[in-house]
Amino acid sequence: MTFDSQSSAEPWWQRAVIYQIYPRSFRDSNGDGIGDLAGIVEQSDYLSEMLGVDAVWLSPFYPSPMADFGYDVANYTDVDPIFGDLATFDELVAQAHRRGIHVIIDWIPNHTSDQHPWFQASRLSRDNPKRDWYIWADAKPDGSLPNNWLSVFGGPAWTWDQRTEQYYLHTFLDRQPDLNWSNPDVQAAMFDTLRFWLERGVDGFRIDVAHHIMKDPELRDNPPNPHPGFLLHKAFGEYDSQVHLYDKAHPEVHRVFRELRRLLDSYSVERPRVAVAEIHEFDLSLWASYYGAHLDELHMPFNFGLLRAPWTAQGVRAVVDGLEAAVPAGAWPNYVVGNHDEPRIATRIGPARARIAMMLLLTLRGTPTLYYGDELGMRDVPIPPEQVQDPWEQNVPGLGLGRDPQRTPMQWNGNPHAGFCPPDVTPWLPVAADYELVNVVAERDDQRSMLSLTRQLLRLRRISQALTAGAYHPVDGVPNTCFVYLRQWDSQRVLVALNFSGEQQMLHLSEPAHGSVAISTHLDREGPVDLTDFSLRGHEGCLIELAE
Ligand code: GLC
Ligand code: CA
Repeated sequence: MTFDSQSSAEPWWQRAVIYQIYPRSFRDSNGDGIGDLAGIVEQSDYLSEMLGVDAVWLSPFYPSPMADFGYDVANYTDVDPIFGDLATFDELVAQAHRRGIHVIIDWIPNHTSDQHPWFQASRLSRDNPKRDWYIWADAKPDGSLPNNWLSVFGGPAWTWDQRTEQYYLHTFLDRQPDLNWSNPDVQAAMFDTLRFWLERGVDGFRIDVAHHIMKDPELRDNPPNPHPGFLLHKAFGEYDSQVHLYDKAHPEVHRVFRELRRLLDSYSVERPRVAVAEIHEFDLSLWASYYGAHLDELHMPFNFGLLRAPWTAQGVRAVVDGLEAAVPAGAWPNYVVGNHDEPRIATRIGPARARIAMMLLLTLRGTPTLYYGDELGMRDVPIPPEQVQDPWEQNVPGLGLGRDPQRTPMQWNGNPHAGFCPPDVTPWLPVAADYELVNVVAERDDQRSMLSLTRQLLRLRRISQALTAGAYHPVDGVPNTCFVYLRQWDSQRVLVALNFSGEQQMLHLSEPAHGSVAISTHLDREGPVDLTDFSLRGHEGCLIELAE
C-alpha cells in the first residue's frame, strides 16, 4: 500500500486511537486476582508493538472503598494499594511516553466516596466549613424527600443523614455523594487535583458524567417523561420515568468547563493536554454545546451515537451523518462502540458484524476509543447471581443493567484464567469460557483473527493521512444494506465499503471506478478491483485505496 506517512499539524489526540483499560481487569501482576498498574506496565509492549495505539485511558485507580469500583474516590491524588502506588504510576507514564503512548486518566468530579475526608467533615455538623461542599437539603415540612430526583442506580437520589437531620444528594450510589460545584472552594480543590496529575505528566482526562456536575439551584422537581420507552441508549428502569431537566446539565456547567479548559491550556504549551468527557446527551445541538461556543470548553465530548444506532447500514449512516452535521466547525469528532458500562460490541451485534464495526470505528473521521478486549472479539461473560459485583445490578436486578459481563479479565493466552492471574488464584470476575480460542497468543498466530484485523487496520490508519485527518463523504447509489464512504486528504482517497447484510451485495460505482483493496474484514483478499462491478460478500467490509 502506498499510504504516505507525512507528519501533520493536528494535535496528537486528533490522530490518536485511544485504548481504554479497566485496570482491575487488564493484568494482575501480584497474584491477588485483581489487575493493577504494574500489570499494565508489564504489557506496555502489547500496547505499542502489538496494537500500536497512541493513547490509553485508564479507568480509576484512586484510593476507594470500591463501592462503584473506583468511581467512588476517597483521595484524588493517590493510587489505591490494590492497584499499586504513585511510583508505579510514574513508571507507567514513563514507559508509555517512551513508546509514544499518551496517558489519559479518569477524573470523577460529580461525586466523591462517602469515605472522602471532605464528606466525612461535611456530615459532621451543619456548620462544618465543608458542609456546603456537598448538596444538603431539608426534608419537606411533611418529612418527605426534598424533591423527586432519582438515582441512576435505582431509588431516590437523596439519603437522610441522622446526625444532622438533612438529606444529601447522590446521583449514583448513596456511597457517592454529589459535590456542590457552585461552591468556588470545591472547584478550586478539584482543579488542584488536575494540576497534581498534569504535573506528574498525564496527557489528559476523561471526565466522568461531566454533564451532571451542575444542578438546578432551586432543586425543582423533574417533570414526568411523556414518552414511553427510554431516554438514553438503553432502558434504565424507574430513572426513565422523568425528564432529567433539573438534576443535571444546568447551564453553569459551561462556565466550569471554560475554566477547566483554561487550566489545561496553561499546561499545553509544551504539548497539548486533552479533555475527553462522558456526556450522555442525544440532542446533538446540546451535545455539541460542550465543545464551547468558541471551542473553549471540552476537546471531545464522547459521542455515544453508535451505542444506540440500529445496527443497519442506514441506521449507522444516519448516526455518522448526524454527527458530521452537528460537530461545530473546527471541532473534532470521536466515536465509541464500547466501554466498561456497555455490553460488548461482539455480544450486541455478533462476531461477524463486530468485524465490520471495527473497520467502521477505525476508518471514520474522528478519534476512536477502543475498549480493551474488543480487539480480540471478547464477549460478555454471563455472571451467576452469586458472583455479581456491580452495585447497579445489585440495586436494579434483572434489567440487564449489570456491567460485570463486559469487565471480565483480559484474555492473554490459553493458560488457566487466560493468563490474567496465576493459576492458583481466583480472578475477581470469571474468565470467558472461550478463552482458549479467544486470546492474544492464539489470535496473534492466526492471520484471519479479530486481533489480526484490528492490528492491520490500526497500521493502515497510522500511515494514512486520508484516514486520520481526511474529509468524510458518504457515497450514495449503493444497496441499502451497504454503507460506503470516502475519506479524502488532498488527492489521497480511501473508500470504505461495508456490507451490513449476511448476503452478497454488488456495488456499481462509476466514480471512483477503480481501486485497490488494502484490506478486507475477511483478511483474504488484496489488490486491484473494478468498482463498476464489485461484489462484497456477506458481512464483508473493504478498505479500498483509490488512484490519486
Ligand atoms: C460513569 C462511569 C460509570 C460509573 C458512573 C458513576 O457513568 O462510566 O462506570 O458507575 O459514572 O461514577
Ligand atoms: Ca493485583
